[in-house]
Amino acid sequence: MAKEIKTIGVLTSGGDAPGMNAAIRAVVRKAITNGVKVKGIKKGYQGLLNEEIIDMNARSVSDTIQRGGTILGTARCMEFVTEAGQQKGADICRKHGIDGLVVIGGDGSYRGAQAMSRHGVNTIGIPGTIDLDIACTDYTIGFDTAVNTAMEAIDKVRDTSSSHERCSIIEVMGRNAGYIALWCAVANGAEDVLLPEKYDYNEQAIINNIIANRKHGKTHHLIINAEGIGHSTSMAKRIEAATGIETRATILGYMQRGGSPTCKDRYYASIMGAYAADILCAGSTNRVVAYRHGEFVDYDIEEALAMQKEIPEYQYEVCRMLAT
Ligand code: ADP
Ligand code: F6P
Repeated sequence: MAKEIKTIGVLTSGGDAPGMNAAIRAVVRKAITNGVKVKGIKKGYQGLLNEEIIDMNARSVSDTIQRGGTILGTARCMEFVTEAGQQKGADICRKHGIDGLVVIGGDGSYRGAQAMSRHGVNTIGIPGTIDLDIACTDYTIGFDTAVNTAMEAIDKVRDTSSSHERCSIIEVMGRNAGYIALWCAVANGAEDVLLPEKYDYNEQAIINNIIANRKHGKTHHLIINAEGIGHSTSMAKRIEAATGIETRATILGYMQRGGSPTCKDRYYASIMGAYAADILCAGSTNRVVAYRHGEFVDYDIEEALAMQKEIPEYQYEVCRMLAT
């Protein structure tokens, strides 16, 4: 018989992402509606180990849906990767009467969620990362806001790049994944895109492309470079030396993680938060919520972590074709 859940905890872990607050809000309000108490755990697994735990009610999440970041705070916690840290985390949950936990974060956070399930605390994950790099889901909380923020910033760089007839290398986040770079390259009409999953490190091909485009009258040349490749500043110096065209690097950085979430991030995060609260209250454990093929579903964490995700070949081809 499924364990009866009386009190759940909710935490955000890993990099913050716009829309996390909408997910927290939905977890809190749905659990309360289901007759379950909610405690907020501050600063991810680190806050759990430090017992930074607060009572939450429906009003605790008022006026938060439009805010970027996470009202609970987040952290990366090395102690929690150890068996001793995980045991301590589970013991602290029991001490505070927390029999279920919702973890909002990325792949790394899911491994922590898996450990908590193993230690007897029913745990459900929600995909929260701007990187879109979780294989089991077509959507992750924060990606939509991040690509819109990056797109607007790149439009601005394009204006000045065109005016000065420069080449611009713009580096976007994404850890080892190229989704933010791919989406921006299409949406910003970039001349080149460098994705960790695809780049062959043939810089001469980029240089030839810049020279050919200039001959055809293009006044700017935008290269979107993914963080997983990096080295945009040294790349810019080499390209300038080889082409004779002024080349500048812009690293967009943390601005991509902040800001008020888009409607899509608020909406999906709200549905996922409610879904997570529902399956947790019904006794599920070791599951992650996902959006797949147009539906909200859930997977076993083990199964989810074993899935592989690749840059869709056709979308990449279209991106390259449009750049010509
Ligand atoms: P994300 O969740 O965005 O992928 P991280 O990979 O940094 O971000 O993971 C967030 C946190 O999850 C880590 O700081 C750590 O506390 C926890 N975590 C990561 N890997 C593991 C693991 N193998 N076992 C237990 N906890 C982990
Ligand atoms: O996972 C989100 C992300 O912003 C990645 O795109 C980036 O590689 C990483 O987090 C940066 O992490 P930190 O905040 O630890 O510098």
